[in-house]
Amino acid sequence: MTHLFSEFTLKGVTLRNRIGMSPMTMYRSTDGRLGDYHLMYLGARAAGGFGLVFPEQIAIAPEGRTSVHCAGIYDDAQIEGHARVTAMIKSMGGVPGIQLGHTGRSGSEEPPWAGWGQIAPDAPDGWQVVGPSDVPYGAPRRPHPVHALTVEEIGELHRQYAAAAVRAAEAGYEWLELHFAHGYLGSSFFSPLANRRDDRYGGSLENRARFLLEALDAVRAVWPEHLPLTMRLGADDFHPEGTRFEDSVVAIGWMKEHGLDLADLSFGGNTDDMTDPLWNQPGAWVERAGRIKREIGIAVATSWNLGVPQDADAAVRAGDVDVVLLGRAALANPHWPVWAARELGHDAPFGLVPRDWAWWLENFRGHAPSIGWPAPGAGA
Ligand SMILES: Cc1cc2nc3c(=O)[nH]c(=O)nc-3n(C[C@H](O)[C@H](O)[C@H](O)COP(=O)(O)O)c2cc1C
Repeated sequence: MTHLFSEFTLKGVTLRNRIGMSPMTMYRSTDGRLGDYHLMYLGARAAGGFGLVFPEQIAIAPEGRTSVHCAGIYDDAQIEGHARVTAMIKSMGGVPGIQLGHTGRSGSEEPPWAGWGQIAPDAPDGWQVVGPSDVPYGAPRRPHPVHALTVEEIGELHRQYAAAAVRAAEAGYEWLELHFAHGYLGSSFFSPLANRRDDRYGGSLENRARFLLEALDAVRAVWPEHLPLTMRLGADDFHPEGTRFEDSVVAIGWMKEHGLDLADLSFGGNTDDMTDPLWNQPGAWVERAGRIKREIGIAVATSWNLGVPQDADAAVRAGDVDVVLLGRAALANPHWPVWAARELGHDAPFGLVPRDWAWWLENFRGHAPSIGWPAPGAGA
């Protein structure tokens, strides 16, 4: 039976297990580059046994970043930092994934620990945010005006998606996810809350999906065919006038026809005014992921509240989720896969770490409980 530690093959890429580190913005970049911090942090998760390792959302344009401290791949000079990271992840047995995105009307921000406010376009480190329409996300967090993109600017963004994908392949990434969730640009085109256009990019579901499908087409045309092309969709705004899950089911079907290999489900994020948004529910998106997998016939991933090993394993065993993506659990425990393997009774949990450590952990003389790992069942 397929379980959390079964291999997973998508196109020409095989993950050693079904555990991925979800993209997480770190506010540690200068000029959009990945540096030593990223090498350390991402390399540690690959060494800790994660099958798939994403850095944070990587911006396709400078104003597509969350803040000036965030990473991008909009300039050839940024390729080298990414290439160091992908080489490190591969050398530790992981597959390096890149999440390409544009923050749209949710960019130009301070880091959370600096207030998390939106910086005015004319202030230092701020810029004019863009979106499908001139509808601001809203006060208090994001009060500033939004520039409604012209059709020409939309075309330029799709060229930037493609150029970023070319650089991503050159940097050695083997899995590419488009970020269409969390209130960022793709998500806001998809959501009637942010998209009030009356041209071919707004109105009907087909029109609201057009920006996303064109980005997918632009990337599919340049991203190597043998490598997975996936997408994180803001599949529900949990608001009566926002993105509805039923619409997402239909749109994912269209994306599959356009060459999408896997759908990663998450929140729409186009408003703070949500009803019943599943924040605290274990395996929050698992049931919906299973529905997409069965109805659309596409591989699925999801994150949100899957850090308890038994929950993650059950989602895979039930056939609802192909890849479990961990956010906070991956931050908290770089060796989460090893811990989970011990908790779940895997026969060789240390086989997940580099052999140079595994051999000693498995063979060295000494009192076994003193190796520094809690006994299975004792908690993290
Ligand atoms: C510090 C932090 C930064 C995040 N940045 C991103 C991001 O860049 N892109 C993204 O799609 N999700 C981002 N997320 C969401 C995570 O990828 C993940 O979906 C979320 O944390 C839920 O998983 P969890 O319950 O395992 O934490 C971030 C989450 C955290 C905690």
